[in-house]
Amino acid sequence: MSELDFYIEGIQQLPAIVEKGPAAQEQVARTFSEFVDLAHLYESAIEVVKTYLGILDSEFSIKFQRNPIHDIKSRMKSAESIIGKLQKKGIPLTPENARKNLLDIAGIRVTCYYISDIYVLAEMLSHRDDFTVIKQKDYIKHPKPSGYRSYHMIINVPVYLSAQKKYAPVEIQIRTIAMDFWASLEHQLRYKTSAAITPEISAELKECAERIAQTDMQMQKLYMEINGLD
Ligand code: GTP
Ligand code: MG
Repeated sequence: MSELDFYIEGIQQLPAIVEKGPAAQEQVARTFSEFVDLAHLYESAIEVVKTYLGILDSEFSIKFQRNPIHDIKSRMKSAESIIGKLQKKGIPLTPENARKNLLDIAGIRVTCYYISDIYVLAEMLSHRDDFTVIKQKDYIKHPKPSGYRSYHMIINVPVYLSAQKKYAPVEIQIRTIAMDFWASLEHQLRYKTSAAITPEISAELKECAERIAQTDMQMQKLYMEINGLD
């Protein structure tokens, strides 16, 4: 099942999840096809970015005999969570409002080998003249209080459709394998388990993040030394 099919299936469940009542049902019916178009736009924007990242990765392997990218994953926010987020913000449920207010409907997560690879990719993404950086946050230089590290970018990406060019924002999270290891387990522990996360546990998780960051920096240093790059 493609991401688009998955998305459409989610949207088809809309009547059940939107507050019951004729007005809500009618609104869902009216906006359905617009949401499908929007889902297609976002899925295409993800493909544009993934294609570019793939080109950069192969160019690197030709020039430097090494791939900076370990893995690329992408996801579209589910219809349920788009609705949930709009409702939480008290914003009426329309495709236009989703597009304007939610910048993380299309998400790409890139894992790199070394910290320096993250900055090379972020630079390449921000210098493409048809990409516009809407927002970027360096949670590597400035980790979150949780200990979370990653480089976040939101880029407005052009998509050439049959009759026009449209733009869609794509959230790109770039991190090392080590940062991803921590973020995945921390996410599981924090959100997927029912047990309460005490301040002591949070402090220990943060300590793990710091230790992992130390190792990441040590591996970076070794890479530079071995390749005579310092
Ligand atoms: P905002 O402007 O505050 O929205 O900044 P942002 O979008 O750059 O960061 P936000 O806190 O919204 O985080 C976006 C995503 O980053 C989340 O959906 C997670 O995937 C990831 N993330 C952020 N903080 C953490 C964290 O503490 N732990 C983990 N595991 N992931 C995090
Ligand atoms: Mg956010």
